[in-house]
Amino acid sequence: MTKLALNNVRPYGEDVTSILIDVEDGVIDSIGDNPFDDADETIDCGGNVLLPGLVDMHVHLREPGREDTETIATGSDAAAKGGFTAVFTMANTNPVIDQPFLAEAVWEKGQTYGKCDVYPVGSITKGLEGKSLTEIGLMARSGVRMFSDDGKCVNDPQLMRRAIEYAKAHDVILAQHAEDHRMTEGAVAHEGEQAARLGLRGWPRVAEESIVARDAIMTRDYGGRYHLCHASTEGTVELLRFAKAQGINVTAEVTPHHLLLTDEMLSTYDGLFRVNPPLREKRDAEALKQALLDGTVDVIATDHAPHGSEDKCVEFEHAKPGMLGLETSMAIVHRVFVESGLADWRFVAKVMSERPAEILRLEDQGRPIAVGEPANLTLIDPQDTWTAKGKDMASKASNTPYEGIEFNARVVGTWLRGTQTYSAKKA
Ligand code: DOR
Ligand code: ZN
Repeated sequence: MTKLALNNVRPYGEDVTSILIDVEDGVIDSIGDNPFDDADETIDCGGNVLLPGLVDMHVHLREPGREDTETIATGSDAAAKGGFTAVFTMANTNPVIDQPFLAEAVWEKGQTYGKCDVYPVGSITKGLEGKSLTEIGLMARSGVRMFSDDGKCVNDPQLMRRAIEYAKAHDVILAQHAEDHRMTEGAVAHEGEQAARLGLRGWPRVAEESIVARDAIMTRDYGGRYHLCHASTEGTVELLRFAKAQGINVTAEVTPHHLLLTDEMLSTYDGLFRVNPPLREKRDAEALKQALLDGTVDVIATDHAPHGSEDKCVEFEHAKPGMLGLETSMAIVHRVFVESGLADWRFVAKVMSERPAEILRLEDQGRPIAVGEPANLTLIDPQDTWTAKGKDMASKASNTPYEGIEFNARVVGTWLRGTQTYSAKKA
């Protein structure tokens, strides 16, 4: 039996302890006050913070179709480096993940590579065309837990109603990218003073909020488990609060970039800052922060969206929307919540691991750090200053909006079922 000791760790940033892992079974074997000295492998973790492996409900790994920008393998490397042990990759690939065999291929590639559990998201409509529903039941039977047309909104209300009903019947999550496309035609930036100043076509808050309101009412009346992708406005927060107060079964995510960045970044017209939904104003970011703190928004999801430089280093209007997220998210959450004193590491574990695992019903993720539990773990050094650089990313793409920004917390190790999938040190 192979044993790995993680000595001198602080689970959830609390008291120092040592953890012994049974590597073959991939579970935590024992936890003790003293370091384990007789393990097959021993790592002195230097009092660093240990969290359950992070879970990201929303990434784009671009395989199949755009393997020049990311693959399941490079995306898994980026995920492991970011501290993630499970990710859900969206269906807007080419071909679109709209049939069971395509979903199964994504899962199997991820498992063969072995760095991260890569769960496929199935599309709600065939080819993401918003015209007819996919075989939600067949995909659900092949293991798909979440359905989304992300990148696009299911605008047609009748189609959305049917999707909600099917999703309910098969007990799967329906994740909506809320955007009234009619209201965002040609829009590239948040509709406000900044877009007006820069001469950019504006994307109003109501384009998101009107869909959130409609979907909340539909979920009230037709049931099921509804999840809102990348909430971005103050009004969306109010609507979510209203829906939850009514007992409507909605959950929501916010991205690290909508918490940290605002449309002020757009003044250089740098395509790196183009994203859907767009970066909003300070009051939106503040409302989203509060919503995450009080549970109105449930989780952080990165919306990791790799693009090649040919699609990002162009005029703002022509840049493809999307930014990398997997390798910077923990550092941003640390900056916004832990460093600022707004929250502790228990909170980080909740919004980046436990809640997403719970929403997706992953039995082996987001579990307590306790004996007998799966050894899906992330080790974080909260005092290791580093500078984000696109060229240093494990991701195949380099479109990070945080180029040159210094962060203080860094993932130094990740374990998936007891096997190390990332180490900051080559030791
Ligand atoms: O900015 C975005 N990029 N938002 C989306 O909804 C889709 C994503 C992508 O696929 O690049
Ligand atoms: Zn989206």
